[in-house]
Amino acid sequence: MSDSRTLSAYVHVPYCRVRCGYCDFNTYTSTELRGAKQSDFVDHVAAEIDLARTELSQAQDTRELSTIFFGGGTPTLLPVTDLVGTVSNLRQAFGIAADAEVTVEANPDSVDADYLGALAQGGVNRVSFGVQSAVPSVLAVLDRTHNPDRVPEVVAAARAAGLAVSIDLIYGSPGETLDDWRASLELVAALGVDHVSAYSLIVEDGTALERKIRRGELEDPDPNLQADMYEMADVAFSQMGLGWYELSNWSRSSTTRSRHNVAYWLNQDWWGFGAGAHSHLAGRRWWNVKHPAAYAQRVMAGESPAADGEVPTSSEKYLEDVLLGTRLVEGFAIERLTPEARDEVPALVAQGLIIQDAAARGRVVLTLQGRLVADAVVRRLT
Ligand SMILES: C[S@@+](CC[C@H](N)C(=O)[O-])C[C@H]1O[C@@H](n2cnc3c(N)ncnc32)[C@H](O)[C@@H]1O
Ligand code: SF4
Repeated sequence: MSDSRTLSAYVHVPYCRVRCGYCDFNTYTSTELRGAKQSDFVDHVAAEIDLARTELSQAQDTRELSTIFFGGGTPTLLPVTDLVGTVSNLRQAFGIAADAEVTVEANPDSVDADYLGALAQGGVNRVSFGVQSAVPSVLAVLDRTHNPDRVPEVVAAARAAGLAVSIDLIYGSPGETLDDWRASLELVAALGVDHVSAYSLIVEDGTALERKIRRGELEDPDPNLQADMYEMADVAFSQMGLGWYELSNWSRSSTTRSRHNVAYWLNQDWWGFGAGAHSHLAGRRWWNVKHPAAYAQRVMAGESPAADGEVPTSSEKYLEDVLLGTRLVEGFAIERLTPEARDEVPALVAQGLIIQDAAARGRVVLTLQGRLVADAVVRRLT
């Protein structure tokens, strides 16, 4: 099969010690696992890897993996041998490109120097730490359990092990001030990392955070303050030598971007392994059953763990391409817009929402102002 798209693997590790009040990701604490054992994780994912190998071989798809990402949940709750064992199972099944990016998400309180060293020895070359904030009171509102003083120590240990380091931050938490946010940005500056992701806090339905806000125990995040925080971050990151390349992501150079996430944004192919993981291959999308017990039952019976899937219609695909493409610093090709959307371009330039020079070169690229209202820009182009 000749396919110019790259192939990636996402491995979802659906376990957390405690659930943070704001998080609605597919993750379970030990009391919610209904008999699914964390210690069986590596075998269950190995069974899905076998399934994927068979399916791709039948399609004569011989591509090696160009990126691998262990996300969660908290991948680093697993013994390190499970993570590197899974890297080696993926290598055996598909091959891993010599220059592949292999990332593990980590909570700062779930790793130490030995663990990070063993990850690096086992083929991992990048770690993404969920730091969220440098301020204890903000971390407390988010129910984060780590002590921020530990962050420089684990970042230094990751570097010493030869791992590239990225930091995740959240801004706009209830009660967080601009000074609090500045302290988090100063932490990033002091760490000197090459990559940072900063997300505005989303109040997800059904979370403990949402209930607290509904009961009036916490304030609703203020979108104007979040916009000020975004602008403050963009200035601070650029002073640190980190430029934006996606709405919520900044990197020192094009080589330190998250290649795995870029593959998602460019609609490349990936197989998502594990409970609730999503996949995208040859124009088809599917997603696995969510609960680890249901997932285990399927894969151990040799059955596909897919719960459902779809082939997006051409209008769904257009919407998705514009949505993802305009989030990137390279922007979206104006010639790929519908004629009606193309007519919007001069007005968007005049309103200062897209960059004039880029438009003249045939690309829709958001200005800082445009990045703050990206959803509204996308609505005008779709
Ligand atoms: C789901 S976590 C998984 C990795 C790890 N357990 C952690 O918490 O860092 C990945 C990232 O998603 C982001 N995230 C999760 N829920 C969010 C929310 N409601 N609003 C904004 N960001 C969120 C956080 O920044 C977090 O670092
Ligand atoms: S540690 Fe990460 S995945 Fe787990 S509940 Fe918290 S934010 Fe969600």
